[in-house]
Amino acid sequence: MSKKLFIETLGCAMNVRDSEHMIAELNAHEGYELTDDAASADLILINTCSVREKPVHKLFSELGVFNKLKKPSAKIGVCGCTASHLGKEIIKRAPYVNFVLGARNVSKIADVLHRDKAVEIEIDYDESQFAFKDFRSSPYKAYINISIGCDKQCTFCIVPKTRGDEISIPPDLIVAEARKAVENGAREVFLLGQNVNHYGRRLPNEKINFTELLRRVSAVEGLERIRFTSPHPLHMDDEFIEEFARNPKICKSMHMPLQSGSSEILKAMKRGYTKEWFLNRARKLREMVPDVSISTDIIVAFPGESDADFEETMDVLNQVRFEQLFSFKYSPRPLTEAEKMEEVDSEVGSMRLSRLQARHDEILDEMKATNLGKVVEVYFEELRDDGHVAGRSDNNLGIKVKGSEEWLGKIARVKITEVSRTVQYGEIIA
Ligand code: SAH
Ligand code: F3S
Repeated sequence: MSKKLFIETLGCAMNVRDSEHMIAELNAHEGYELTDDAASADLILINTCSVREKPVHKLFSELGVFNKLKKPSAKIGVCGCTASHLGKEIIKRAPYVNFVLGARNVSKIADVLHRDKAVEIEIDYDESQFAFKDFRSSPYKAYINISIGCDKQCTFCIVPKTRGDEISIPPDLIVAEARKAVENGAREVFLLGQNVNHYGRRLPNEKINFTELLRRVSAVEGLERIRFTSPHPLHMDDEFIEEFARNPKICKSMHMPLQSGSSEILKAMKRGYTKEWFLNRARKLREMVPDVSISTDIIVAFPGESDADFEETMDVLNQVRFEQLFSFKYSPRPLTEAEKMEEVDSEVGSMRLSRLQARHDEILDEMKATNLGKVVEVYFEELRDDGHVAGRSDNNLGIKVKGSEEWLGKIARVKITEVSRTVQYGEIIA
């Protein structure tokens, strides 16, 4: 009987891809097969996120639960950003954990497995050219890492401390991954990095930027769509926006993480741009790509954020009218500059977050009606239990139609017949 692996993945798309890499390595070298039943697993992995405080707290209670329900012989490993950040502290607090593997060390998974109490969290470790074995949760959803780590020092963010300095994966390897994804049935690839439009850092033999990388990936035959996340507003120069607008394979959906609409707060966050620059870039995008969808991340109640600063954020929300909003109340993180700054009253933060989200809901309600009756091209990537297949339009509308797996991996024209804030229903038209 094969050994069973249970893996829980928290956090961002990069963690999803890291989990796929670990599953592939464990399968190829150790014969593990996936299970969704932790109680019958021989190995339980938690791939953690540390970007906000809550999931870190949750980790230890979750570990306790796994320890109780697991088979006596089963091992538990903690991976990802909290592993990088807390290291051996995790084994101190939960002595039954067998190993700790940092976000920058996932290629060592098959090795740490055999070293009880191993803690591999080296922040300078370079796995940018590691030839991972193949595994994808779905052949139709092809995440491809283009860089590792982040060179920015946003004062609220722990990521540079858990994923280390930014290194780019060589373009040839990225193109080869895209080719392989297409051969295995994908029509779309999703390029991943903490700061994708800063691509090119620390490449040993080549000078190439993100725009050029996009051109090379889009030359892959059979590939029809490219998505990417996350770009940084500071690096959204004209060349990048023009390539985004002009290249028909690039999906017209842009993530523009604003964080704050106040130039003062942006400075304190060390984001490197002002409110005006952000608005200027969003305006250029909307002008060049009329049906673009813009998503954003916003943090409210960063230390020092006054009512007036928050109104600046509301103002950007009202001007840009983001199609999607990911919003968070500031959460102080260890190892960051902002940790030492005086916090905004928590109640005030909660109120600001509710106001922001309520206003965004209004905007979505105003915008959603315009989607009714539209015909969009949808790439189907997921089968749902309710007799629907789900996919996304080029500009990132989540769309469901009645249908079966025959649509998976295909692109079809769909007429939207029902709309809501988060999902639209439609019918496939010939
Ligand atoms: N470069 C990545 C950032 C990863 S963190 C990206 O652009 O997606 C993802 C989001 O979490 C950030 O954009 C930010 O909005 C939020 N975040 C990061 N640190 C935070 C903190 N200390 N408190 C609250 N939200 C935070
Ligand atoms: Fe974090 Fe800023 Fe990098 S949000 S991941 S330090 S761009």
